[in-house]
Amino acid sequence: MTTIIQDKEWWKKATIYQIYPKSFCDSGNKGTGDIQGIISKLDYLKLLGVDAIWLTPIYDSPMIDNGYDIADYYTVNPDFGTMADFDELLKQAHQRGIRIVMDIVVNHTSTAHQWFQSALGDVNSPYRDFYIWKDPVKGDIPNNWQSKFGGSAWEMDEKTSQYYLHLFAKEQADLNWENPKVREEVKQVISFWAEKGVDGFRLDVINLISKQQDYASDDVGDGRRFYTDGPRVHEYLQEISEAVFQKYGSVTVGEMSSTTLEHCQQYSSNDGKELSMVFNFHHLKADYENGEKWTNAPFDFLQLKQIFNHWQTGLNGKGWGALFWCNHDQPRVVSRLGNDTEYRLESAKMLAASVHMMQGTPYIYQGEEIGMTNPGYTELSQYQDVESTNMYDIMVNHQSTSHDEMIKILAQKSRDNSRTPMQWDTSEFAGFSKGLPWLEVAKNYLDINANQAVDDPNSVFYFYQRLIQLRKEVDVITSGSYVDLFPEHNAIFAYQRKSDKQTLICLNNYYADEVECVLPEHLNVEGARYLLGNYLLGDYLLDKGVGGESSAVSRHQVLKPYETKIILIES
Ligand code: GLC
Repeated sequence: MTTIIQDKEWWKKATIYQIYPKSFCDSGNKGTGDIQGIISKLDYLKLLGVDAIWLTPIYDSPMIDNGYDIADYYTVNPDFGTMADFDELLKQAHQRGIRIVMDIVVNHTSTAHQWFQSALGDVNSPYRDFYIWKDPVKGDIPNNWQSKFGGSAWEMDEKTSQYYLHLFAKEQADLNWENPKVREEVKQVISFWAEKGVDGFRLDVINLISKQQDYASDDVGDGRRFYTDGPRVHEYLQEISEAVFQKYGSVTVGEMSSTTLEHCQQYSSNDGKELSMVFNFHHLKADYENGEKWTNAPFDFLQLKQIFNHWQTGLNGKGWGALFWCNHDQPRVVSRLGNDTEYRLESAKMLAASVHMMQGTPYIYQGEEIGMTNPGYTELSQYQDVESTNMYDIMVNHQSTSHDEMIKILAQKSRDNSRTPMQWDTSEFAGFSKGLPWLEVAKNYLDINANQAVDDPNSVFYFYQRLIQLRKEVDVITSGSYVDLFPEHNAIFAYQRKSDKQTLICLNNYYADEVECVLPEHLNVEGARYLLGNYLLGDYLLDKGVGGESSAVSRHQVLKPYETKIILIES
């Protein structure tokens, strides 16, 4: 049995693995994943070496938004199992030294939640004020705020002729955080799971909980500036943190939609008054044309590097960020920024190294560790995601996008790209389930699957394993400052991490052509050695561990297609 390290800031050297339970592993033949399926894969995760699992919502839910519409915070969705299954998962994970981080969605509840059911149609309900109701303005919607999933953010309650706010689907009603009773309920919910021994929480869209109270129309945008990092958000987080997170020593990661560095410095400040760390998404907008998600544009490489530079230098010493490319809302990174055909292995590893060697806590989304790709769906009927189907309807039926164009956009941008069943082996349905999966398995599972990866020492899986170990062994990865070495280079992303005793260089070629560069004079390459790379397996220390064999590092570097090299200089 492994004991969990009790260091208060254990998460600074940790790597967290995200599980989307519906698509991870089905222990039966339902076609949807479940908690027993997760338990059956804990040894696989132990082999990978991750320190914690972030579970996306497993609570009772009508699943309009796959669990981000919670109907009961205290019950496990029967599709996933029972509370006894969850308790077993917690126990078995802890026995392996793996912590559990739960997803908590408290910006909104499902409209099937009993609070909303009581509030709907009844202005005298004790729960009416749990939600945000507004009268029509001039016989129309209260303002022009848009739902993140398309269309107005307001829905009419016919009985009372008032509208309720929903920043996401109309089945996800926003909670009214101005009401102290809501905040008390939130504390109780989180305490319930913390009492069970859950180690931390991922807080869904948590920077949207405080809305500007005049609910004005936005004459320059979709309303987000009136509720993003809103007026009382820090106060609310401090209140919850003091009552629950600090009491239980929970690790917390806030999902911060369209946030700013200044706010994130405060959310994740070292004083520990709010959260442990933040997710921001700016680097994942480098392939949005004019900030628009529903477009197909190549990614802006220089912009990508500028964004990393801004956040890496801005959070150093002031806060803490999550490092990631993939999650259940993002397409697969190897298809997005890498090359998912000829250089799939190389680019998957290079992309991994380029974020894992930064400061922060890395997150691996299920399947990323084996280089899973977008599935390449060609039919609308293959998509299930509420955002994707809404956007199809808006853009094709109400705007001028053609069906064919939208199918191409969905194949790049849909959230279902990352939600396809986990590819375990070469058996039918990729070993995910014995029944027909709820979402079609990507056709490449015969070549890309976990069994193959575990059997192949050159796989993406073992590269991630090394990255996870390196973070534990090489201090500069956690503590060092960050400098972009070639901010203007149009193919190489190279950065330096530096502390008193160590300098680490991470060199990455983001394209399929060989490129060259010369490392700056200030770096003492004589004392340098390679820690890891994605070519020449064996020459590097992949299986020798840090401190093993060194091979001379030249100042003049040639990088093969999608090559990554991690170099350490110790003084
Ligand atoms: C977050 C979740 C996403 C969900 C949304 C609304 O962005 O990651 O999956 O749809 O919040 O809860």
